[in-house]
Amino acid sequence: MPLWPFTHRRHDPNDAQQLMHTLLAMAWVVEARDPYTGGHLWRVSRLAETLARRAGLGERDIARIAVGGFLHDLGKVGIPDAILRKPDRLTDDEFDIIRTHPAIGARLLAGHPLAALAVDAVLSHHERPDGKGYPAALGADDIPRDARIIGICDAFDAMTSTRPYRKGMPIETALNIIRENLGAQFDTRFGEHFLNLADTGVLEHIAGHADDGIPLLDCMMCGPTLVARREQTTGDTLFCPQCSGEYRLATGPKGQLEARQTGRVASAADLAPVADSALIERFLNGAARSAWASGIIDG
Ligand SMILES: [Fe+2]
Repeated sequence: MPLWPFTHRRHDPNDAQQLMHTLLAMAWVVEARDPYTGGHLWRVSRLAETLARRAGLGERDIARIAVGGFLHDLGKVGIPDAILRKPDRLTDDEFDIIRTHPAIGARLLAGHPLAALAVDAVLSHHERPDGKGYPAALGADDIPRDARIIGICDAFDAMTSTRPYRKGMPIETALNIIRENLGAQFDTRFGEHFLNLADTGVLEHIAGHADDGIPLLDCMMCGPTLVARREQTTGDTLFCPQCSGEYRLATGPKGQLEARQTGRVASAADLAPVADSALIERFLNGAARSAWASGIIDG
């Protein structure tokens, strides 16, 4: 089945890039609405790409999985703010609503020309090998490969990220939980590859970061929640998505960027969600993904 349904301009690689950009920007809106997951999409994408490479998959598969990692929570765009932005643990009823996000995402994707590339990641990233996942409670052999990879990376990032009601776990603790749940919550083959990534030191460069070489910065009230964009520099302002406190970037004693509280609180306009187009552009221009987008068009 051809993945490229347009008959006009079918050999223009820019079309695929632009379509992909719209999808990634849509995913970014979800991230921007959720104050507790700054950098989550970048981290899951980077982890999934790294894991797929470690497992020996081909470049085309790796590129698709990186995109799937970025898009996996697309369906959260349909989850009400009262639940998405709730600072406490969710009730069972609220969890039932959260559990609708994979199907919402798949429906959103359905009309998109590139849907076939990301639908496994979007629809099945919360399935589990023991059949206790959602939305379809698939058995181990029926969970698509992309979803098995992204499910591990998504859970690792959730465990190591700080939330209002709990601090993020150390990497080692999260790895132990993955080890103990191989074959139950996590795919055994890809889970073992993920555990082996610990020896390479790569996890330290992804956990707690929002981009390559850009660590999350500390809000004095909320912990590591501040996301600085690559192009931001000393004197620029940013806001804590959780407490709305304003911070100004400054150069620390070792030359590193740090965030200093100004005492001001953000206005609604300051907190309006804006996609990081520069990051999306860099993501799309990664060598593997450009080649892969062209490959979609070539067949
Ligand atoms: Fe999800």
